[in-house]
Amino acid sequence: MNSHFVQGYIREFQRDDIYDIMDIARNSFSEYYSSSLIMDLYSAWPQAFRVYVLNESVQGFVIGARNHEGEARILLLAVRSELRSQGIGKSLMENFINFAIQNHLMSIRLEVKVDNEPAIAFYRRFGFVITSRIKGYYSDSSDAFTMWKII
Ligand SMILES: CC(C)(COP(=O)(O)OP(=O)(O)OC[C@H]1O[C@@H](n2cnc3c(N)ncnc32)[C@H](O)[C@@H]1OP(=O)(O)O)[C@@H](O)C(=O)NCCC(=O)NCCS
Repeated sequence: MNSHFVQGYIREFQRDDIYDIMDIARNSFSEYYSSSLIMDLYSAWPQAFRVYVLNESVQGFVIGARNHEGEARILLLAVRSELRSQGIGKSLMENFINFAIQNHLMSIRLEVKVDNEPAIAFYRRFGFVITSRIKGYYSDSSDAFTMWKII
């Protein structure tokens, strides 16, 4: 995996990116996220919504939030399906971790579907550990694992 790394860059979300974000989200999550929900998440912590740009298009994104004092939260993270396993998710994660450290946060928490094995493997790779299981977290009533990492 990752024998071929792509060369893009990360910048903060801009409003015109919403179409690409919706497209990536539709193809990445079984859950439906409306554009207004995504814009609500954006307004919670605008600087923590970052996109990965390659060939002038958004190919991945991370949306973060501040949970409570000292903790960051990853709300959504996705990479366009055709471009996975090429280091884009890793770049977004490293960028988000650095951003959280710069903001004096001490840990990161996230929820992931219990059957989303690729994402769980991805988060483990960065040192996240499963701390709990939340019953019926998703709209299809499936469970989530909470994963957590000290930074
Ligand atoms: C999870 C996701 C963001 C990973 O992005 P990606 O660009 O494919 O990941 P990368 O290529 O940067 O991989 C980084 C590391 O994660 C691990 N990893 C990534 N995908 C993996 C998979 N399918 N199985 C096992 N490990 C995996 C790799 O080992 C890699 O480590 P390495 O650098 O040591 O090889 C991507 O699979 C995705 O968008 N999934 C759908 C949306 C989703 O489920 N998001 C998470 C829930 S919010």
